[in-house]
Amino acid sequence: MSTPPPNTPLSTASGIPLADNQNSISAGPRGPLLLQDFHLLEKLQHFNRERIPERVVHAKGSGAYGTFTVTHDIAAYTKARLFSEVGKQTATFARFSTVGGERGSADTERDPRGFAVRFYTEEGNWDLVGNNTPMFFIKDPIKFPDFVHTQKRDPQSNLKSAEMMFDFWSHAPESLHQVTMLFSDRGTPDGYRHMDGFGSHTYSLINADGQRVYVKWHFKTRQGIKNLSAAEAGRLAGADPDYAQRDLFGAIERGEFPQWEVKLQVATEEQLAQWEQRTGWNPFDLTKVWPHADFPLLPVGIFELNRNPDNYHAEVEQAAFSPANAVPGMGYSPDKMLQGRLFAYHDAQLYRVGTNHQHLPVNAARCPFHNQQRDGGMAINNGGAARNYANLAAAGSAPQGLGHGEAALALQGGAARYDGRGAEDDFSQAGNLFRILTPQGKQNLFDNLAGPLSQVREETLQRQLAHFDRADPAYGAGVRAALQALGKPA
Ligand code: HEM
Repeated sequence: MSTPPPNTPLSTASGIPLADNQNSISAGPRGPLLLQDFHLLEKLQHFNRERIPERVVHAKGSGAYGTFTVTHDIAAYTKARLFSEVGKQTATFARFSTVGGERGSADTERDPRGFAVRFYTEEGNWDLVGNNTPMFFIKDPIKFPDFVHTQKRDPQSNLKSAEMMFDFWSHAPESLHQVTMLFSDRGTPDGYRHMDGFGSHTYSLINADGQRVYVKWHFKTRQGIKNLSAAEAGRLAGADPDYAQRDLFGAIERGEFPQWEVKLQVATEEQLAQWEQRTGWNPFDLTKVWPHADFPLLPVGIFELNRNPDNYHAEVEQAAFSPANAVPGMGYSPDKMLQGRLFAYHDAQLYRVGTNHQHLPVNAARCPFHNQQRDGGMAINNGGAARNYANLAAAGSAPQGLGHGEAALALQGGAARYDGRGAEDDFSQAGNLFRILTPQGKQNLFDNLAGPLSQVREETLQRQLAHFDRADPAYGAGVRAALQALGKPA
């Protein structure tokens, strides 16, 4: 429901004008209340049902609407119509978030930031559900629930636990690259406007000839990167836990519309095969980045946020993004994490928001859509008089390939559970990230790590220190010195 016009009289949810919204019907001025006071009942009943489950991750967030404007022609790579001409604009909705905290948690926690962008294209919704980091902690979705449990609360004490976090990370060395980013200054961004966004996964694009290239999406902030010091982030967590929401909402209200330059890394299958041969890195491994020197950033467009939602619950809390939402001209990739996410989001939203979450205005496609899915709770757009079964005459006429004109994808290898630990290089890229930090940036990393590491068991500490040593001996030495300074020699 949009904002009611001024002076609209108060009514029940069914639109019946209210006689009195402040005094229940009682038997005498002091007496018990009458069951016939339907307005009282409805008011209390609706109040009891105000909350929907919070997102199992990324529960605290901020959203806004905006536009995406194409500045460069990428038709050679994709036939997606939103990119069909320079200057073309597409409406967007974005939600930024922290990851591990609850809905009421502080915006300035050390945590990755969610960076989810929906493009309401003429061929359906494209959702790029990324983070402010180009890599992730794990490379197999089967570990995601374990990983997230370590970021949440201890089942007994209901406290966050450094031991749980580093127990997990030290047994999953593939996390080191992202752990390094998380404990660097980038782990506490100054609000949502001053950070970059990344699609993170390797996705694909398909052009009008059905040719596939692999890509990584980047959003470069035009406001400049700004981070909070660990001390300032800690102070704000108490003084202004909604710091990032206040900053984003206020900037848009003031007409200071934040913008990001949307960029693309592009590679053919052959280029990736050669790169893998040379580097040893799997291009579909989410714990790795594609270095810009190998795959330069190509400009694509400008993404701007310029309108605050009218209603937080309806538009931000009920927003339901999914990496599976890819329009014609786009595709997925063999990235195991992406494959897991293609299932996880819609499933979570069927539970969190409801069977027909795609009917809600923030989630609905802004182009005509037509399927045979019917009924279920809160069916707002239920297909009207259209048939609710597939037209069987059309069966068998589907083109070969993956869909949307995408060529078939060649697969290799037998079906099995593959454990890459020990066999794959999980340390060089973490070391490269460490080495490009400034001396002060390195010191902050050491100090940020030493705090929680001073609380973990000796065995966990030694396992984690060994990973730092393998990434770069100076990394391990720096963390040891910072631990020493805290009175915890290691
Ligand atoms: C939210 C699962 C990895 C970014 C969520 C939600 C689930 C989920 C269930 C809540 C969805 C909802 O209730 O609407 C997973 C699984 C993953 C994974 C199973 C790994 C296999 C990632 C990665 C990224 C990411 C790698 C970033 C690159 C996000 C964001 C949101 C989110 C930004 C919040 C979207 C919003 O603002 O509504 N994830 N996730 N997730 N995830 Fe993931």
